[in-house]
Amino acid sequence: MIIDILTVVPEILDSPFKYSIIKRAQERGLIEINVVNLRDFAKGNYRQVDDYQYGGGAGMVMMIEPIYNAIQSLTEKRGGYDEIIYTTPDGEQYKQQTANYFSTLDKILILCGHYKGVDHRVREHLITREISIGDYVLSGGELAAAVIVDSVVRLLPGALGDSESALTDSFQDNLLAPPVYTRPADFKGWKVPEVLLSGNQKAIEEWRLKQSIERTRKLRPDLWEKLDLDLD
Ligand code: ADE
Repeated sequence: MIIDILTVVPEILDSPFKYSIIKRAQERGLIEINVVNLRDFAKGNYRQVDDYQYGGGAGMVMMIEPIYNAIQSLTEKRGGYDEIIYTTPDGEQYKQQTANYFSTLDKILILCGHYKGVDHRVREHLITREISIGDYVLSGGELAAAVIVDSVVRLLPGALGDSESALTDSFQDNLLAPPVYTRPADFKGWKVPEVLLSGNQKAIEEWRLKQSIERTRKLRPDLWEKLDLDLD
């Protein structure tokens, strides 16, 4: 899979992909991540990428021309993208199901929003998906892009070891994951639940499912309402 990321601040993405699972996935050739500087496609000595908004108002707007040129050039180089994603707080809310879908694609481009946003014609004509990672405003879309990449890479076959299976992650089945514990079994009197030490795998699985259900009902009633559990 190839993920290209178009940004005006490539430095923000210097480190998120250099460690752990994402680093390993790149070394194994499962994923190629390229951070591209939008200014390389801007004109003039100042390589201008933003400008005042028509109609007045505070805040600069990302110009369409450098973005258009960058997307044209990258699309030609890659022979097309499956999705061209724009990170923005007013996009569709990012969910595990969307990550699952992105992980099935070969080539995606992520355009990181900045300033007041992009010239709306970019969104109308060049973008295929608009993604928000939550109802809060970040200084730019780079961290959102890193979140998307991280959530997608861990789903690629071979990215995780056997012991790290993504299938047991929270949200894969709209249930929160159960609590986990490791040694010591007793820390200053704070004990690990007895059942986990019992060796009774059936009882352990039942306990985990019950915990998942209880935690989801209590912490995420919105997920709980959507849940269609077959508990018989
Ligand atoms: N850019 C700024 N805030 C954002 C958010 N919440 N999600 C995605 N991109 C953003």
